[in-house]
Amino acid sequence: MKNFLITGGAGFIGSHFVELVCSLNNRAIVLDKMTYAADRKNLAAVAQNSLFKLIEGDICDRDLVSKILREEQIDFVVNFAAESHVDNSIKAPENFIQTNIVGTFNMLNCALDFWKNLADEKKSEFRFLHVSTDEVYGSLDLNDPKFNEENPYKPNSPYSASKAASDHLVRAWFETYKLPTITTNCSNNFGPHQHREKFIPTVISSAINHKNIPIYGTGKNIRDWIFVKDHARGILMALQKGLAGQTYCFGGECEKENLELAHEICTILDQIKPRADGISYTKQITFVTDRLGHDKRYAISNDKVAREFGFKPSKSFSERLKETVEWYLQQNH
Ligand SMILES: NC(=O)c1ccc[n+]([C@@H]2O[C@H](COP(=O)([O-])OP(=O)(O)OC[C@H]3O[C@@H](n4cnc5c(N)ncnc54)[C@H](O)[C@@H]3O)[C@@H](O)[C@H]2O)c1
Repeated sequence: MKNFLITGGAGFIGSHFVELVCSLNNRAIVLDKMTYAADRKNLAAVAQNSLFKLIEGDICDRDLVSKILREEQIDFVVNFAAESHVDNSIKAPENFIQTNIVGTFNMLNCALDFWKNLADEKKSEFRFLHVSTDEVYGSLDLNDPKFNEENPYKPNSPYSASKAASDHLVRAWFETYKLPTITTNCSNNFGPHQHREKFIPTVISSAINHKNIPIYGTGKNIRDWIFVKDHARGILMALQKGLAGQTYCFGGECEKENLELAHEICTILDQIKPRADGISYTKQITFVTDRLGHDKRYAISNDKVAREFGFKPSKSFSERLKETVEWYLQQNH
């Protein structure tokens, strides 16, 4: 049994990781500030589990983080906590700088103090895994090869710049202090528990609530979609099989234009919850002013994690998308 400190565990991806960790009989200590992006319902599956504990607090709080590391005898830190919505970062970047950069800095510093004083065996097994995004690599043109671990950083939004800064800190804490860190960079996640401000939940809730389905620009922007539970599995593989100081990329092997994805969601809804008037939900699709600096295409290679961990997406995208739409319908979105 290992003791995991999971920051941001009440958010979208973190909550799936918490479920996975507990299902394998490990302890999951969640540190979450419970911002608007968190939801206790995301943790309903583990709420009564004695292996799970939720601590409401900020990753910027040095005393609190140090106390948790010590008292809970943490083996693995997994840093999900972040401000994560690009649109919010364009409107108000301050929180992104604070949580994503200063918060990660604080987590690294506290982890280093704790790690330095561990006994040798614990010290060699300890890992600090930082969860990051493919957006740090910038934007691809249509015919460019996918991103991989060797790409230079070229972040374009305040969100991706703050994540890039945090990745650099993580790298430096390994290179300078030998803190055993791992960074994972992943493509767009989808699945249950995602906040309704994000693309797929927005399409679903707009459709069934008889609203316009907003699509930025021409809808031609391309994202590489990974099912959230596959990402959670990949992070665990990186902790168990990855090497300290390494970066691992995870992608969904599924590139879609936003407009194409919105059409697919509408088609699923047409089948399982048809409109009363029999007209397709696609009729609600509306184009809106494009996001500032909207990256054209993201796609990321699984070659390294396939080779080293045997990682691959678990099911087809269309099966996972249908499961996801059904889940949101059950939540009365
Ligand atoms: N969603 C994606 O498609 C995606 C893709 C690649 C990487 N990521 C990264 O994965 C991580 C999780 O993303 P998500 O989509 O689950 O985000 P989310 O916004 O759903 O959840 C973030 C969680 O962090 C918590 N949090 C925010 N500030 C905090 C602070 N100062 N202290 C403690 N907790 C705080 C929030 O309350 C929330 O529960 C992020 O680091 C993000 O950059 C996300």
